Amino acid sequence: KKKLILDVDTGVDDAQGIMVALADPGVEVLGITCSHGNTPLENVLKNTLRVLKACNRLDIPVYRGCKLPILADKLNAGDYHGKDGLGEVPDPDAPGLDLLQKKKAAQAMIDIVNENPGEVTLVAVAPLTNLAVAVQLAPNFPSKLKALYIMGGNIESRGNTTSCGEFNFVADPEAAHIVLNRYTCPTYIASWEFTCRNSLPWDFCNKLLAQKTEKAAFMKRISKLSMTKAQSQEYQKETTEGNGFNSCDTYAVAVAINDSLITKSEQVAVTVELQGKYTRGMMVLDYMELLKKTHKAVIIHKIDLEKFKQMLINSLM
Ligand code: BDR
Ligand code: CA
Repeated sequence: KKKLILDVDTGVDDAQGIMVALADPGVEVLGITCSHGNTPLENVLKNTLRVLKACNRLDIPVYRGCKLPILADKLNAGDYHGKDGLGEVPDPDAPGLDLLQKKKAAQAMIDIVNENPGEVTLVAVAPLTNLAVAVQLAPNFPSKLKALYIMGGNIESRGNTTSCGEFNFVADPEAAHIVLNRYTCPTYIASWEFTCRNSLPWDFCNKLLAQKTEKAAFMKRISKLSMTKAQSQEYQKETTEGNGFNSCDTYAVAVAINDSLITKSEQVAVTVELQGKYTRGMMVLDYMELLKKTHKAVIIHKIDLEKFKQMLINSLM
């Protein structure tokens, strides 16, 4: 089985990503590490447990990670994901935080990978703070990973949080910098623009959520707010040019599970801008190789949408 660690800031699309991973019979989720991000860490922890409960998988270890970015001011995406990060549809019987593991996220990542050297794929769909701390604690940690998949960054200086910056990178630019420069394992990047260009048609989304299962009902409840927001003309203009819905994190999880989903990509060295007044948090692609970096990331451009749709359908069965 493919061994995954998911680093999340659950979030509606994080939730969908977790569900895709849990539904795949070829995948073993060794742990879920939580970060600040879409919503404060305490909500992220609760939301993650709620998703596991919806999947009947409260056996998966969940770890508390960083509450704050390294230097940046704390951000959240409550406008999109809801004040609680999960669509503002509270569950009175939500699992308690006593179910969390005692170990902290960064240490858990290091230990899990030490127990399975060369076998673990890390999927990072949140601000990269936990990953940055892990490499500070254990500098050789990245060399023991099988691969790293990141949802984050932008490839055409088109932002969703600042004019040029994507949320996960803008929410902790220093962490993104540490990760892009110190993780030398095979690295795949699902950027913001990539998710926009590979969006899901609305009629497919409706069909997906209309499945008569408890998981589909859960997903429909939690995604109502963000899907309404995403359907607004203003948002469509900013993102998908009217094409549909981009459940960002789900793409990164899906390609981490099955990289043959990728139909178009290129290898480029990348870093992140830390200084710019307008560009702080923007991913920089070094096509001219001026940075003299030996490590290049795989920038994903296109995926097989039909196979991706099938994974989404399976995840809610
Ligand atoms: C990213 O930011 C968050 O809102 C989503 O969960 C995703 O990880 C998209 O920019
Ligand atoms: Ca996320």
